[in-house]
Amino acid sequence: MNRIQPLQQTELVPVFQDQFGRNKRKLRISVTDRCNFKCVYCMPEHPEWMKKHDLLSFEELYHFCEFMVRRGIEQIRITGGEPLMRQGVVHFIAELQQLKKIGLKRISMTTNGHYLKQYAAELKQAGLDDLNISLDSLDTEQFEQLTAKKLQPVLEGIQAAQQVGFLIKINAVLIKGSNDNQILHLAHWAKRENVELRFIEFMPLDGDQNWSSDHVVSEQDILDQLATEFEIKIGQSQGANPARTYQIDNMPIGIISTITNSFCGSCDRLRLNAQGEFFNCLFSTQGLKLKDSIQQLRQQSLSAEQILQQQLQTYIWNKAAGFHAIQAQQKQFNLEPKSNPNFRKISMHMIGG
Ligand code: GTP
Ligand code: 5AD
Ligand code: SF4
Repeated sequence: MNRIQPLQQTELVPVFQDQFGRNKRKLRISVTDRCNFKCVYCMPEHPEWMKKHDLLSFEELYHFCEFMVRRGIEQIRITGGEPLMRQGVVHFIAELQQLKKIGLKRISMTTNGHYLKQYAAELKQAGLDDLNISLDSLDTEQFEQLTAKKLQPVLEGIQAAQQVGFLIKINAVLIKGSNDNQILHLAHWAKRENVELRFIEFMPLDGDQNWSSDHVVSEQDILDQLATEFEIKIGQSQGANPARTYQIDNMPIGIISTITNSFCGSCDRLRLNAQGEFFNCLFSTQGLKLKDSIQQLRQQSLSAEQILQQQLQTYIWNKAAGFHAIQAQQKQFNLEPKSNPNFRKISMHMIGG
């Protein structure tokens, strides 16, 4: 990576806001679509990876992040695919630390955990603030069916992350008839390991579009199962967090229930994929291709900034109300993903959750 220019004085630039008055404070950067796992709720059976030469370089990503932090972004989450599959990501995180001088508060990562044993110490040293790690089953066979990889390295990765002092959250996506028998196991495990666990309702973002509402384990289903062995209390208010929080036997857990209780009303998130396509919502049917504009940023010209500002302002302003509004619109215009070849096929691995 070329040397990053010293930061200039912070100017007063307004925070990005959408038409529903939601200010944007969180940016998720997917650094690669590649993954060594093949989670059934995410990856297609035959993924077509983005070409390496089409990806934004870390230097370009840095300039974009700086631009966004100057406009109110306070948290950056690095995602994938599997972010640790992209060489140079640890160094990128170390470089991002400079943005904490101009308003960035947290740098986080969401990972499948497989490489954490190898990288946890380096990530800590690079200044990463926290890690979210996927763990959908504690049953070795079931884990392999869900992810096509082994459970043990992930458990070791979680341990390594804890040993170096990371704050971690565990993400468990539940699929009816597949791993919903893990709810109580995972909750007891989280209590023993003293980690924060979040159950996630399966969203229609799987690579092969096999999702159906019949596969969703709802927040209520999850609470009903937990109630058989734990005392449940309502936790802190949700704010702009995706998870609704509960205490089970005084341990905090979260449930991310986009399907039955979406948090879209307070969504403060924006996303960039590895090729420089920007999305105002996880479910947006249209992205904004920003690669050229981001590459222009490197020249540090005022006009490059103004062009990008204008593009983003308009696109972000038009952000839809949320998941249910987008679904209703698709139904109205008969834009069912499977029956329409022009429809953006949204697969989680390309956008990073
Ligand atoms: P925290 O800041 O730690 O709460 O991060 P996070 O929960 O947003 O990040 P993570 O990558 O761990 O995502 C957990 C789950 O929340 C995944 O299933 C994501 O797809 C989902 N999620 C994250 N952001 C959004 C969003 O904007 N909309 C919806 N519907 N789901 C999201
Ligand atoms: N529905 C809900 N969550 C998903 N994730 C991946 N695909 C889906 C889906 N279809 C989660 C992963 C990971 C995070 C980035 O997104 O479990 O923790
Ligand atoms: Fe890979 Fe994460 Fe998708 Fe699983 S959910 S296939 S670990 S990107």
